[in-house]
This record gives sequence, C-alpha cells and structure tokens, in this order.
Amino acid sequence: MINLIISGAPGSGKGTQSDLIVANFRLKHLSTGDMLRAEIAAGTPLGKQVEKLVSSGAYVPDQLMIDIISNAISQVDNSYNGLILDGFPRTAEQAQALEEIFEKMGKKISIFLDIHVEEQELIDRLLKRGQTQGRKDDNLETIRERLKVYNAKTQPITDFYKKKQIYHRIEGIGTIDEIYSKIEDIINSVANG
Ligand code: AP5
Ligand code: MG
Repeated sequence: MINLIISGAPGSGKGTQSDLIVANFRLKHLSTGDMLRAEIAAGTPLGKQVEKLVSSGAYVPDQLMIDIISNAISQVDNSYNGLILDGFPRTAEQAQALEEIFEKMGKKISIFLDIHVEEQELIDRLLKRGQTQGRKDDNLETIRERLKVYNAKTQPITDFYKKKQIYHRIEGIGTIDEIYSKIEDIINSVANG
C-alpha cells in the first residue's frame, strides 16, 4: 500500500505526473483542484461558494477542504493500491487534519514528493495552458497570486514532511518522461524497501 502526496507550485506538473503514476501503480488520484473545478462547472452550491476564490488564486477555507478530502478518501474502494493526494494538503492545518484522517484509518502516508520548477518556467507553462485550455486561473495576474499564496502557505509545510522522513525533492525541469522516471524510482524503492 502506497499513499503519496504530490506537491509543488502551480504548474510544476502535479497533475501530469499523477496521470502517469496512476497508470502504472493503480493508485486512486484525488486532485482537490479538479474536484473544485467540477463543482464550479456543475454550478453546485459548493461550486458557487468557491468560484470567486479559485478564479482569484486564493485558497478555499481549510475546514471546507478538509471535509471535501475526508469525504473523497472515505469513498475510495479497496481495489486500489493506495492514494495520490494532488493539491492537498496546502496549509499546516490541512497537514495536521490529514494526519488525523490517516491515523483513524490505521494507514500511513509513505511519500511526499515536492516538484521544483523555477518561477519563470511555471509562469510560461501556465500562460501557455491558459491560451489553449482556458482554465480561468491561468492568467498572469492570477498566476502571480497563486505563486504568492503557494510560497506563503504551502512551501513551509515541507518541513513537517522532512521531519517525518518521507520528503523527496524532484527537479521538475526536463521532459515529462524524465521526471516521471525519477518519481517511479522513488516509489519503487519505498514500495520494496
Ligand atoms: P490546483 O488545481 O491544485 O492548481 P495548482 O496548484 O495551481 O496547479 P496546477 O493544476 O495549475 O498545476 P500542476 O502542478 O497540476 O501542473 P500540470 O501538470 O497541470 O488548485 C487550483 C485552485 O483550487 C487553488 O488555487 C485554490 O484556489 C483551490 N484549491 C485546490 N486545493 C486546495 C486546498 N487543498 N486548499 C485550498 N484551496 C485549494 O502542468 C501545468 C502545465 O505544464 C500543463 O499544461 C502541462 O502540460 C505542462 N507541463 C507539465 N510538465 C511539463 C514539463 N515537464 N515540461 C513542460 N511542460 C510541462
Ligand atoms: Mg493540477
């Protein structure tokens, strides 16, 4: 059983790499950003509540995110070999809540992947995606806000996972396959170790 967190700044490749991991390791991909965008697209009450925050690059309140992820985790059937948490936790409070969720289940998070990409490359990638895919938060002003919020609230939680000795830094520049191959090595070594 492998439960992993994939973290990194906006545009670092969390979603891209999660797709490859899922295809090879039969893990369930839980992306909080994808969940929120689906709620917004469907016009649900939750979607309406979070729409402005997401499109401005601000974080959704912790307790709301904790409820969403607990609910999503509880619905994963046991045919999977574990979970990939993409975009959660993003704050110290979320990290603490996640510990409690796993403790209650009697399970552990075994890997924290931190994908590093320099800021200009992140901006270039997201602007390019904004032109082709039209994600509402992929415009320069919102990208800058997302990076600012990430640096202030999410980057600092890496210390917690370093102390737990499950932290792995990944250089996220290069081809998608090159980066994936580094991730695959880490998962294999943890799974077999
Ligand atoms: P979320 O959806 O998580 O967005 P994000 O963190 O801003 O990251 P992205 O999804 O934009 O990037 P990614 O790292 O997945 O990269 P990707 O693989 O797509 O969150 C969105 C919003 O939801 C937040 O701002 C917040 O409002 C809210 N939210 C979500 N979770 C929350 C939480 N826990 N608490 C509070 N609020 C929350 O790649 C990006 C692009 O680069 C793609 O076009 C891709 O094709 C390309 N690319 C990928 N890899 C490479 C490569 N190696 N070389 C070149 N291009 C590449
Ligand atoms: Mg993503």
